[in-house]
Amino acid sequence: MPTKMASLFSFINSNLFLSIIALIQITLVISSNNSTEMDKLFLLSLLGLLIIAYGVSGTFVSDSDIDMIEELESFDIEEEDDDVVYSYTVPAWRSERGSKILMNVDSFDAVGDGVTDDTMAFRKAWETACSTSKSVLLVPKEKRYLVNATTFKGPCKDGMVIQIEGTIVAPDEPELWDPKFPRQWLEFTKLNAATFQGDGVIDGSGEKWWAESCKKNKSRPCKGAPTAFTIDSSSNIRVKGLTIQNSQQMHFTIARSETVRITEVRVSAPGDSPNTDGIHITQSTNVVVQNSKISTGDDCISIVNASSGIKMKGISCGPGHGISIGSLGKDNSTGIVTKVVLDTAFLRETTNGVRIKTWQGGSGYVRSVRFENVRMEDVENPIIIDQFYCDSPTTCETQTSAVKISQIMYRNISGTTTSKNAMKFACSDSVPCSNIILSNVNLEKTDGTVETYCHAAQGFGYGIVHPSADCLTSSDNNFAASDQTQVLELETVQLPTEQHIVHTEL
Ligand SMILES: *[C@@H]1O[C@H](CO)[C@@H](O)[C@H](O)[C@H]1NC(C)=O
Ligand SMILES: *[C@@H]1O[C@H](CO)[C@@H](O)[C@H](O)[C@H]1NC(C)=O
Ligand SMILES: *[C@@H]1O[C@H](CO)[C@@H](O)[C@H](O)[C@H]1NC(C)=O
Ligand SMILES: *[C@@H]1O[C@H](CO)[C@@H](O)[C@H](O)[C@H]1NC(C)=O
Ligand SMILES: *[C@@H]1O[C@H](CO)[C@@H](O)[C@H](O)[C@H]1NC(C)=O
Repeated sequence: MPTKMASLFSFINSNLFLSIIALIQITLVISSNNSTEMDKLFLLSLLGLLIIAYGVSGTFVSDSDIDMIEELESFDIEEEDDDVVYSYTVPAWRSERGSKILMNVDSFDAVGDGVTDDTMAFRKAWETACSTSKSVLLVPKEKRYLVNATTFKGPCKDGMVIQIEGTIVAPDEPELWDPKFPRQWLEFTKLNAATFQGDGVIDGSGEKWWAESCKKNKSRPCKGAPTAFTIDSSSNIRVKGLTIQNSQQMHFTIARSETVRITEVRVSAPGDSPNTDGIHITQSTNVVVQNSKISTGDDCISIVNASSGIKMKGISCGPGHGISIGSLGKDNSTGIVTKVVLDTAFLRETTNGVRIKTWQGGSGYVRSVRFENVRMEDVENPIIIDQFYCDSPTTCETQTSAVKISQIMYRNISGTTTSKNAMKFACSDSVPCSNIILSNVNLEKTDGTVETYCHAAQGFGYGIVHPSADCLTSSDNNFAASDQTQVLELETVQLPTEQHIVHTEL
């Protein structure tokens, strides 16, 4: 294993510095018995040495590369400050911030027997709570409220609390669904400084929707179904403690919002329910998802276009399709995702671990991502970049345009894989992946046959990297195009023409 520590340097092939490299490799091998912190110190100082060395001779490792690594190792997004979440005792709604005005949906004639249509009661309660300062909209416990698709609109008075203790349930018949809301069930829009909290449940009653999905019944057309809980065009939102389950399609979407803190949320749906993503983040910035447990039939968390500054911390995922950036670039669209960190996660029996997926023909980029402290158990594709993603009934043609993927760090990731390719970097021929950085990755398969697959992917590893990711630095990696920010200089390799990788989830 210690020899893998030196893989960072294996791409440096100038004779002039062979002796220095040898020395560095020896030093690294010796230091590998110490803590990872020690390794890092060694590495950084040795990288410093390399800059000086190559500053003299020419070009390989630049200041900007070192900056890039340091930036990737250290960037962060502030987490939830637990003190800010209010705690209440019913009926005396008081906090240090002064008294609150309680609005119980039952006072607006909600019945809560799971059968009566409580939609109007919820809409009226919302109107009143929204326009009242310091209001708490309460969905009381031990009751079950049947509510149709509704957009709960802001702006409301700041500081509104939506306290969900009971269950809100959706009508279960797709045929009777209000066609005005094809993609939403409970949507909250244009809120500022609002808190959703409580031990309650948002239940999408999705079974009939799943049966009608084209993924379950091939003779059905592929069309979207509602998302159970959406926060749209909002800012300074907290969501704490809720359970969202059995959604028609996605469970919880954060769209066009900024500064959102989600903690202790549970998402639960059967592993074979189609397209039931857990938490979906789109066009949003400064979002933290913490201490949440997600079991579902699609991605536990998916982060898509125009999202930046996203942190996931303390995530349990499985069953599901893993934690994903993407998909991006569908139908030649532009997708941009930057500054994402996943820190501390446990994935069990998922189809993917940490994944970046893009369609052929897209544009834009995914840059500055760190996946760290992840434990995997029986995961099919623990580490995967898939630029040939094709979640469509028809095949997707290979195209020259693609979403550019660079500066992706995988650090302290360990566990077991059920497929041979524990790490798979399948990148676009014309827009290769660059600066894939692996540090202390250890993925094993019971029968021991584990390997890394690379296609048009460049990067390096330091610390333990198992299976070896030498293909990130080697020229048998079908590297067709050169990249300006490249540390390496590799010969252009002719691609076999039949090379065509298609990944499909259908
Ligand atoms: C809720 O949906 C049902 C059909 O599922 C419909 O009959 C009812 O009128 C709707 N309620 C409201 C308030 O729109
Ligand atoms: C699949 O969908 C078709 C067309 O809507 C329908 O006739 C058929 O009963 C469905 N099959 C199952 C197994 O639900
Ligand atoms: C991606 O986000 C940008 C910026 O918000 C937007 O202009 C563009 O339409 C989005 N693309 C897709 C496919 O949604
Ligand atoms: C995407 O672009 C390719 C190449 O220009 C074109 O052949 C294809 O029809 C486009 N696809 C869509 C969905 O616009
Ligand atoms: C590596 O990740 C595991 C799993 O999340 C964690 O328990 C462990 O503390 C991490 N090790 C270091 C050195 O951070």
